[in-house]
Amino acid sequence: MVDIARVRELSAAVESMVETYAQDSSTENYKQLQTAVSRLQIAAASPVDTLFSFRLKVGISLLHRTLVIGNIAVTMAMELGVIDALVALGQDQAHAVDLAAATGCEQGIIERLLRVACGLGICDEVDENTYRATEVTRLLVQPGWKAAMSQMDLIYPLASNARQYLSTTPAYREKQPPVSGATLFEYVHGKSMWQVLADNPDIRQNFDLWMSEQRRNEEETSWQRRYPPSTHLKPDNLKAGPEAVLMVDVGGAHGSQLVNFRSQFPLLPGQCVLQDLPESVGSFTNPPEHIKVMAYNFFTPQPIKGARFYYFRNVFHNWSDAKCIDILRNLVPAMDPDYSSVLIDDYVLPPTGAPLRSAIADVLMLIHFNSSERTSSHYQQLLAAAGLDLVAVYPKGPNEEAIIEARRWW
Ligand SMILES: C[S@@+](CC[C@H](N)C(=O)[O-])C[C@H]1O[C@@H](n2cnc3c(N)ncnc32)[C@H](O)[C@@H]1O
Repeated sequence: MVDIARVRELSAAVESMVETYAQDSSTENYKQLQTAVSRLQIAAASPVDTLFSFRLKVGISLLHRTLVIGNIAVTMAMELGVIDALVALGQDQAHAVDLAAATGCEQGIIERLLRVACGLGICDEVDENTYRATEVTRLLVQPGWKAAMSQMDLIYPLASNARQYLSTTPAYREKQPPVSGATLFEYVHGKSMWQVLADNPDIRQNFDLWMSEQRRNEEETSWQRRYPPSTHLKPDNLKAGPEAVLMVDVGGAHGSQLVNFRSQFPLLPGQCVLQDLPESVGSFTNPPEHIKVMAYNFFTPQPIKGARFYYFRNVFHNWSDAKCIDILRNLVPAMDPDYSSVLIDDYVLPPTGAPLRSAIADVLMLIHFNSSERTSSHYQQLLAAAGLDLVAVYPKGPNEEAIIEARRWW
């Protein structure tokens, strides 16, 4: 049964947050509005409905309220070219007949798939069997979002094998956390995620595309916006000369954050270097001129000495504590104690009340890599084990990722 008094109370809270947000559209107010709306949504559903939806949710929610079947329906509509056709024809509106003519698909299938897509808020239904593309539809036809949807091919099998995996993996029922042994990903796919990417250039390309796309349109999430000292970067407080290095983006895939930083500050002295595995940097056929691209394995000594920043985004959460310390120990000798900083750009879990997005990311890391998202004190321990001091944790952006700065202590 729905608790009407609670729904009324939460509904009033939503109305009040709408007014607050209308007065001040800050990130904080935006987040509070989102929270108020989702609380109302959950309260207004019967517990059975809530559990039903929950049972069908898989891995990560790429678009709000994406469910397994919804995801399949949208994937089918994408693969059949219906979503592309809708964007091409449906700026104003497109009838299923037009979409069938454009794609060669059976009209009835188009209507059924788009009924789900409209229910999920991916496009609008403006009349019977007549649809309009929205901002979400237009986003979905971007290469990065197509790549993101294709990543689900690797994630769905994890959901369907989780129970069987647990029955054969005693570590989860023992006191020690499962830091070794096959992850759910390895159990299902027979090899590590990195090996799958190395063996399948098309999957690797989609992965890199998705990494770049994730925050492409979110200026507030760029690292330099979340790292206030970047506003004080001036030529006179940076090393210059042919050997000087401003930033190394380690494990940077296609270096979206480095490229963005360089184009915002083209005149700062020092090179910008992108490092990743050969299968990633090798496929980066057209890097911007002012970025140096280097194949590098971060479990070997860092070859670039004395850079101002060694930046790692979404890297440490892929590795166990022991491996993170190994990565840091391979870096520390290259750092100049008076000049270099390590910047770790990752989720930083609060001790309580972790936002769902970061909690899901944490379990995603567990099942892919036996690794985790971490609190700031957890990061402090890892850094100290490698001879680094945690200098500051800079505030979280809209995606809950923060920047941790560390320096060599000698
Ligand atoms: C989750 S992705 C993050 C990519 C990028 N930093 C970003 O945020 O868009 C992790 C990256 O680490 C790279 N990586 C994994 N193992 C590595 C290794 N041993 N040495 C260097 N890079 C590695 C992967 O190829 C991948 O691009």
